[in-house]
Amino acid sequence: MEHLIVHKSGQLKQTVNFSEESLEFFDRRSTISWRHTFFDHYEEASVILDFSGRVLSINPAFGKMFDCTQKELLGKPLIFPFRNLQQEFYKMVQSVLNGEKIVYQQLLRRRKNEDQMFPAKLTISPVFSSEEDIKGILVIIKDQTEIDEYKTLIELQNETLETEENMLLDITKHIDELIILFDLEKNKIIYTSPAFERKLDLNLVDLYNKPSLLRKRFDIEKPKQLLHFFKCTNSGHRTLEFKATDLRKNKLRWFLFEITPILEMDGTVKRHISILRDITELKEKNNQIKQLDQLGAIGQMAAGIAHEIKNPLTTIKGFVQLLSEQAKSEYSDIILSELERIEFIMGEILLLAKPQTNISFKKENLNKIILEVMSFMHPEATIHDVVLNRNLAPIPAVSCEAKQIKQVLINIIKNAIEAMPHGGNIRIKTYYSEGFIRMNIIDTGKGISKERLQRLREPFYTDKEKGTGLGLMICYKLIEDHHGTLHFTSEEGKGTCVHIKLPVAT
Ligand SMILES: Nc1ncnc2c1ncn2[C@@H]1O[C@H](COP(=O)(O)OP(=O)(O)OP(=O)(O)O)[C@@H](O)[C@H]1O
Ligand SMILES: [Mg+2]
Repeated sequence: MEHLIVHKSGQLKQTVNFSEESLEFFDRRSTISWRHTFFDHYEEASVILDFSGRVLSINPAFGKMFDCTQKELLGKPLIFPFRNLQQEFYKMVQSVLNGEKIVYQQLLRRRKNEDQMFPAKLTISPVFSSEEDIKGILVIIKDQTEIDEYKTLIELQNETLETEENMLLDITKHIDELIILFDLEKNKIIYTSPAFERKLDLNLVDLYNKPSLLRKRFDIEKPKQLLHFFKCTNSGHRTLEFKATDLRKNKLRWFLFEITPILEMDGTVKRHISILRDITELKEKNNQIKQLDQLGAIGQMAAGIAHEIKNPLTTIKGFVQLLSEQAKSEYSDIILSELERIEFIMGEILLLAKPQTNISFKKENLNKIILEVMSFMHPEATIHDVVLNRNLAPIPAVSCEAKQIKQVLINIIKNAIEAMPHGGNIRIKTYYSEGFIRMNIIDTGKGISKERLQRLREPFYTDKEKGTGLGLMICYKLIEDHHGTLHFTSEEGKGTCVHIKLPVAT
């Protein structure tokens, strides 16, 4: 047969004629040397054994792994790496003789350091001759130490992740902020923190299945704006403040919504995490601070002008009285009553401005104070066709300055009378509950709208032609000086209830 011999450069060197026999020799030789080259350079430790487990050949990687040479082992049973494995080895030989390939994990020993076992993966397969007969058994040994270390590392990481996850869950369990994880693609809430259940009494599972439940619980002021804000796929961090009425408690609340999008690898936003904070108390405190600021300004102003006004006022009043004695005029009474009104307003402003240093708190019976105020206010109420009723339960004493509590009661009763221009009823109730004495002053007047309710403690907030808008502000201040609280509930057209809570005297 003619063969072309080509030079490395690609140029034809010569044509040669080989006999069939010599070609077969070349073929066999090349196969054998190819197999050898492969076996010798294979980087996993490999050994070829005969059926009784004697070594026929080892590769350099095997020699290196077990610290031995081909010469040393040739024809000898391979025992040391396996030691306790002889029985099983013969079973395996049987399987391999049936042409099967077996893979299994085993702890092996090195020759030098016999005490140290290492995990290995053994691949045992038959070695075929060119006639397809099984001539021996090839054992490839792969050191698993690093892989096992890797596994332990992963296990360790998983454990850490698990503890971190538990820690995170623990944290979310106890924080008061409401956390929502939202899937924008599925349009579904995937996580809500336990605070939802604790604070809003909303069941998490229910909320998962029916996000609309949130809307039933709260009357949100601008729901469309809120929905747009929530579903927007913007990649930036954003916040929104919104008002909502807690329908169960009929109370207006302020919330701060903070959304942080979770960016995917491609920069798109498929989910976002939002934190919802109830900032009602913060808002109320801020308002109080604003009012206190206003109060401070009023105080400074009042201190300044009171001195300036008081003296000329006394002089004017004296002269008007003198004039009215000499020549009685129809205007002198008006002038005098207006002057008295100015004096009254000055008194109110000074009460707010002056720090109360000489207050003496005494143990008093609130019911007794109420009865005195009721008899004092009776003529005023009767003129306006208002009936004063009472429901006074036996209550423990409070520690208070009776004069100040009387002033609070007078201001509130006056407001109630003024809210009923065509007459009505005022009921004063007292009772004891949980360490506090509660007092309710309930009228059947025109009521107060939600918006106005928020502003009652602002100075000069009035809807009356001759009102100062300071009455309630003084009430709030005096009750808070007594470590109590004051709040309003009202329904327009039906009436108003003033709730006062004072601590029991110790
Ligand atoms: N019982 C009530 N029913 C309806 N509105 C009320 C009632 N109490 C207070 N208000 C509203 O609150 C506002 C503020 O009351 P506040 O006592 O501070 O001032 P005023 O009554 O207007 O003025 P002043 O007390 O100096 O006469 C009132 O103008 C009124 O609109
Ligand atoms: Mg008033």
